[in-house]
Amino acid sequence: MDDLTPKIIVENLDFFYDGKQALYQINIDIYPKQVTALIGPSGCGKSTFLRCLNRMNDTIPNTRLTGNVLLDGENIYSDSIDLAYLRQKVGMVFQKPNPFPKSVYDNVAYGPRRLGLTKTQKELNDLVEHCLNQVGLWDEVKDHLKESAFNLSLEQQQRLCISRVVAVKPEVILMDEPTSALDPISTMTLEELVSELKESYTIVIVTHNMEQAARVSEVTGLFWLGELIEFSQTERLFTLPAHELTEGYITGRMG
Ligand SMILES: Nc1ncnc2c1ncn2[C@@H]1O[C@H](COP(=O)(O)OP(=O)(O)O)[C@@H](O)[C@H]1O
Ligand SMILES: [Mg+2]
Repeated sequence: MDDLTPKIIVENLDFFYDGKQALYQINIDIYPKQVTALIGPSGCGKSTFLRCLNRMNDTIPNTRLTGNVLLDGENIYSDSIDLAYLRQKVGMVFQKPNPFPKSVYDNVAYGPRRLGLTKTQKELNDLVEHCLNQVGLWDEVKDHLKESAFNLSLEQQQRLCISRVVAVKPEVILMDEPTSALDPISTMTLEELVSELKESYTIVIVTHNMEQAARVSEVTGLFWLGELIEFSQTERLFTLPAHELTEGYITGRMG
């Protein structure tokens, strides 16, 4: 698929927790090979929206969704969709690094093994090396592959989690405030990685850090009380916001 066709199209999305509405009529086109940032004050629905994109909300009881989420033109909420396949295609990275209580190697090998992506031990070894390289971690961990992932620094753990996602060959990577547990220098490293990954993946990143959105993304959406108030080219949103609320938010007068 070319880069001018949206990878994900969200149409008239409403979302409810226990009958309480959390998202209102969200319409958004997400393009491949670029970073889409979602910003907005706490509690405005950013994480809820992100979870709608790979049906992670399905695991929360008493939730309801109306509208469409199309991935390459296919509605991911249709009955015929295979959830395991969907979550392979649309991977997720969380706020707090959450490596499995396994070795560094086994964290990366977990998905490929489960999905049978490789045939031989050598193929798996090569894939693990490739994925660790992709996140810039190989040189740091190649002599510690059998050690617990918990021995790594937080920032290394987060890169390992991204490596784990990359290992199952996703097309979209969702990131929910992936640097919020990290110090400023680690945050920079992660941001550089995000910029590299966009060459290969469609990335949607939630951040409460506006500078981060400005640094890493091509397009930015501002959520406000469950609505997508403004969605435009990042540079434009931060210099010439169309909406008064956006201006208030980015200048720190609101939120
Ligand atoms: N699991 C849940 N059950 C009930 N309400 C929730 C749940 N998760 C989030 N909410 C509510 O949905 C709204 C949006 O939350 P969230 O998507 O987490 O916002 P953000 O990520 O922007 O901080 C908030 O009012 C929040 O309290
Ligand atoms: Mg959140």
